[in-house]
Order: sequence, then structure tokens, then C-alpha cells
Amino acid sequence: MKKINNLKIISTGHYVPEKCLTNEDLEKIVDTSDKWIFSRTGIKNRHVIENPDIENTSDLAYKASLNAINKAKYDKNKIDLIIVATFTPDYRSPSVANLVQAKLGLSHKEIPCFDINAACAGFIYALNVALQMLNSGNYKSALIIGAEVITKFTDYTDRNTCVLFGDGAGAVILEKTLEDKPAHFFTASQGELDKLIYVDEFVHMNGKEVYLFATSILEKSIKKVLNDTNLSYNDIKTIIPHQANLRIIQTVAKNLGLDMSKFFINIGEYGNTSAASIAIALDEFMMSPDAKPNDKVLLVGFGGGFTYASAILTI
Ligand code: ACO
Repeated sequence: MKKINNLKIISTGHYVPEKCLTNEDLEKIVDTSDKWIFSRTGIKNRHVIENPDIENTSDLAYKASLNAINKAKYDKNKIDLIIVATFTPDYRSPSVANLVQAKLGLSHKEIPCFDINAACAGFIYALNVALQMLNSGNYKSALIIGAEVITKFTDYTDRNTCVLFGDGAGAVILEKTLEDKPAHFFTASQGELDKLIYVDEFVHMNGKEVYLFATSILEKSIKKVLNDTNLSYNDIKTIIPHQANLRIIQTVAKNLGLDMSKFFINIGEYGNTSAASIAIALDEFMMSPDAKPNDKVLLVGFGGGFTYASAILTI
């Protein structure tokens, strides 16, 4: 059994752009239908930025962070580490985390700020890095964000991909704690599968191959963290999967013999927001009456790379 470290979730938040792109809107852009999209993916809506000159990944990340800070009335000056998981940064450099630091008015603080690109598994990767840094003893409070403006890289002439993606951001404030809040991570990658999903000017993917790989790797990742922690499904309050496709999650549930009620689902409203997806879902779960102190949540995701990751957190 691996070493388990404690991690306290102080607050969570999220932000999605106001503009909602419905399946009916997409019917007017490409040869598709609400019926096809919903039956194949579970998606009805996705929230998208209006204009990349006005709204970018760092803006969404900043608003999600403010939401988390304000909910807990948290003193933002305590934050001494900012990590953003994204594959759609405003610039190649500076990082989105640098821009968020400035927007939060924390530029006077000499704190590390950097981005992580592990596609849709990025938020779990970032939480794991934060845990290691908090446990180094050099940092006390981490702001971890998953944020994407995928619509900048979406080809709205390609019906195979454009119906899937939305923009958004989710944030979490973490502190090291002496309380019994064990956190455990599994983070992995299979680099030879780089061509299954890749992004140049636009997102490209082999949908069928991704689908098959995703179902098996999600199952494996869920079992791995449970085995490593000697926990069972009964110990887990909810499983928060990356929201890529409802049918992928349904297949995973069926193969694991679990009821769909065990899984937190919000894909219908947001589509696939990549690194933001688990972060947004975590915030929505934390705000729900189902979330009780000391519940264990299992996060699991996969994405371009191929990357995949899972975690068990104690809320
Ligand atoms: N509307 C209508 N028809 C469509 C659409 C659309 N939007 N897209 C594809 N089709 C057509 C295809 O052209 C094909 O037609 P054909 O049989 O005449 O060739 C038919 O529908 C069936 O296509 P399939 O690819 O077999 O459809 P499938 O059931 O596999 O569903 C989907 C496609 C939804 C993309 C699915 O494969 C999937 O979800 N894959 C995983 C995607 C994913 O999770 N990506 C993660 C990205 S994560 C990241 O890092 C960005």
C-alpha cells in the first residue's frame, strides 16, 4: 500500500460563460441532430465564450477562483501556490497561472505559478502535484484550477468533434492539514497513443478508438486507487468521472457492476470541458446536499496523451 497524505479542501468554485450553444444551434451549423448528439453522448448544451479577444482561459480561471475564494470568504493572500491544468492557454507563455496571479492581485507575492498540460486528466495531475508541494513543507495553501477555452480549437465544420466540446473552469483551494483527510493518487500515461486525440490548429480524434480505450482505462484507474487504498465502492460517496461522453460512463458503470447513481453527471449542460470537467463537477457535488464532511470522492479522468488518472479525496 502506498503512502497516504492528508489534504484539506477549503473551498471549490466554477465558472462557465453565459452563452449557451444548444444541440439545436449546432443543427444550423453542421449536418447533425439533437437526437444523434444526445443519444450518442448525453450532451444537450455547452457554454462557450462569445469572443476570444474579450474572454480567454485566464478569465474563466480567474472567475472560477474568485467563486471559490468568495464562497469561503478566504483570505486570498494566504495562497502561496497556483497551478492551472489546461491545454488551451491564452499564450504559449506566460502561463495561465501567471495571468490568474495578476488578476487576483497577488503579483506582489513571490509564489510559484505554472500550468500543467495533461489534457482531460490535467486537473487530477495538478491536484497530485499540489499535494506533493504542500507536503514538502514549503507551501501552505494551493489554488488549483482546471480551465479551458476549447472552442478556440474546435473546427465547426467537423461534426465528429464540434458537438462535443464546451468552455469552462473549476477551482479548488487546498491546504495541508493534520486532520484525517487522506488523499491518494494514480497518474499515468501511454505516450504511444498520441494520435488518438491530438490538437494542432484544431482538436482531432479517432472517436471510436478513444471510446474503446477510455472505457477500459477508466475501469482500470478506478480499480487501481481502490486497491491501493484498500477501499471498496461502498466506502466511496460518489465517483466524479471526466465528462466526455455519457455512454462511456454508462459502460464503465455496467462493467463494474455499479448503479449510475454512484456517478456524478453534468455532461448534459456543459459537454466536454477537458481539464475543467472534473473541477466543475467537483464544485457542483460539493454544493449539493449529498456532500457530507469526511465523505470520500473518487475522481477519474482520461485525455489526450493518452493520459489517465484517478484520485480518492476526503472532503
Ligand atoms: N451528427 C450526426 N452524425 C454524425 C455526427 C454528428 N455530430 N458525428 C458523426 N456522425 C456520423 C458518422 O459520420 C458516422 O456516419 P457513417 O456511418 O455514415 O460513416 C455515424 O455518425 C457513426 O459514427 P461513429 O463514429 O460510429 O459514432 P459513435 O457511435 O462512435 O459516436 C462519438 C461518436 C460520440 C464521437 C464517440 O465515438 C465518442 O464519444 N468517442 C469518444 C470521444 C471522447 O471521449 N473524446 C475525448 C476527447 S478528450 C480530450 O482530450 C480533448
